[in-house]
Order: sequence, then structure tokens, then C-alpha cells
Amino acid sequence: MSNAITLEDVSKKLGGRQILNKVSFTIETGDIFGYLGPNGAGKTTTIRILLGLMLPTAGRISLLGKNINIDENRRHVGFVLETDGLYDQMSAQDNLAFYGKLYGITRSAERIQEILSLVRLKDRAKDKVAAYSKGMRQRLALARAMIHDPEILVLDEPTAGVDPTGQVEVRQIILDMAARGKTIFFSSHNLDEVQRICNRIALINRGVIQLYGETEQLQRQMSKSEVLLETSAAIPETVLNELRGLPGINIIEVEDRTIRLSSGDNTGIPDIIEFLVKKNIRIEQAKRREASVEEIYTSILKEVEPG
Ligand SMILES: Nc1ncnc2c1ncn2[C@@H]1O[C@H](COP(=O)(O)OP(=O)(O)OP(=O)(O)O)[C@@H](O)[C@H]1O
Ligand SMILES: [Mg+2]
Repeated sequence: MSNAITLEDVSKKLGGRQILNKVSFTIETGDIFGYLGPNGAGKTTTIRILLGLMLPTAGRISLLGKNINIDENRRHVGFVLETDGLYDQMSAQDNLAFYGKLYGITRSAERIQEILSLVRLKDRAKDKVAAYSKGMRQRLALARAMIHDPEILVLDEPTAGVDPTGQVEVRQIILDMAARGKTIFFSSHNLDEVQRICNRIALINRGVIQLYGETEQLQRQMSKSEVLLETSAAIPETVLNELRGLPGINIIEVEDRTIRLSSGDNTGIPDIIEFLVKKNIRIEQAKRREASVEEIYTSILKEVEPG
């Protein structure tokens, strides 16, 4: 896999304050990357720097394997910042035509139709943007960012202020783009959304990256000591009692054929399975409960700022 975006020790000082402190991460081509962090953590600043809209105080940034160069970037990167950059008094179609011209798109009428259907706004193409809902505006902003078919999309909180149905639509567009091989970088406060669609995440707090990696791997690493077992038949009460007696075992919940328990260091999943098999209980499935992105986020921020 090739790298789409690389930041190496990027720092930024503004008004005597250290806004970013040696921020480093790599995003591979085709990634959906989620950039998380509390208000004021430095997400938008990072985005502005990687788009070349602001210069870092120190550090290196490369896009598609090359050093950052504003003119080059414009061709390869599309972005939506906190303000959507749309003209209220113009129709969706005219907004796109305007941006298409800026990007020197030839055969723009065709491209506009294609992109409008991609963001599912074809039937509202002639309406003034002023009459659009927040969700529709956000989809049009995405269309605007994609008008020149860039390889990388950078989105600052693309679902902020959008209702749940609208969020699903925005996420679907992001997934569609990723399926076409695009690389997506987006910041979000919606941790459930990030868990659902991002294969890689980073968490920034007060300008410092606290956590970075593949979502699934991080979830496994931070997984709870909880085990979920599914048996082919309900476990008899006598066996449950014996199970409770094993060192470090705490049964959290028993429901029909599933049992949720936490195991300490003394008794691992293999020991539990061995014990149950000896009691003639068949195990259909056994798995550790993985930490959710929300749990990871909360626990990391608690570590940084205890209490
Ligand atoms: N032009 C500026 N001059 C001075 N400080 C700034 C400037 N722009 C941003 N900051 C400060 O930098 C810090 C990071 O801001 P940034 O907008 O990057 O955070 P964010 O993670 O995007 O937050 P949010 O989730 O609220 O959007 C904040 O403390 C902010 O006040
Ligand atoms: Mg921001």
C-alpha cells in the first residue's frame, strides 16, 4: 500500500501557544481515517496545515509521496472545511458549475450530473441552496469537493449538525468514495460513526497525538477482560456454580445459551473452554468483548487528565 498522507513531527505555534506538538501519522491509499479529539485539540489546525492553507512551524508533510505544493494539492485533494463554501442564492447545479470552472473541468455539464447523482441530489439540482436542509448542503459540499475527481478527500466534521438520516447518507457517500479507491480523512466527534466506517484512527489532545493505529487492532489491544460464550445448550446451574468457583472468574450475565463473564489473569479463555468441555458442554463460539471506540477515547483522555 502506498502512503496518501504523511505527517512527520508537525508542530505549530500560534500567538506564543503550542497548538500542535510533533504530530505524526500516516494514512494509506484507500484508508478511511478518523481524526478524533475534544474541542480545541488541534484537528482543524492539522487539516489546514495538511491542505497547505497554513504553514507549520516545524515538521514535514507529504501527500501522495510528494512534498506539499499548493498547486499540485489542488488537483489531488478535495476538501470541506467548517464553512461549506456554497453560494446560497445559486442552485446546486450552478454552484458546481462555478467550482468546476475554478478547477478547469472540461465537459462540466456531464460531470455535474454524475456528481449530483453520486450525492443523491439530482432531483434538487435546480433549487437554490438557500432552500436546502443542512444534510443536503453537506452532500452538496461533498459534491463540490469531489468535482475534479481528487484522490484524497479531507473533511472537517462532515456530519456535524446533520440529523441521523442525513448522517447515514453522508457516511454512505464516504463509503462509496472509498470503494472507488479514494482516500478519506475526516475529523469527527461522532465516535460511533468513526467505529463504523474508519479503518484507521488517531486521537489528538492539546496538540499531541495520544493514539494512532488501525481501528480493529486498537479495539483488540484495548479489549476488555470480558468473554462471551455461546453454548449449544443452556449450562446447568451446578456447572455455573463450579465455574464461579474458578480463580478470577466473575459471571456477569447468563441468558439462555450465552454467558458473559470476565476472566482475570489466572483463568484464560482456553481454561474456561476446557473446563466446560469436560462437563460435556459444547461451545459454539467464544470471543473477547472488544472495546468500542468510545471506550478507547474515554479511557485515553482519562489517562491524560485524571480525575
Ligand atoms: N488563528 C489562531 N490563533 C491563535 N490560536 C488559534 C488560532 N486558530 C486556532 N487556535 C487555537 O488552537 C487550538 C486548536 O484549535 P482547532 O480549531 O485546531 O481545534 P479543533 O480540534 O478543530 O476543535 P473543534 O473540535 O472545536 O473544532 C485552540 O486552542 C484554538 O483556540
Ligand atoms: Mg475544528
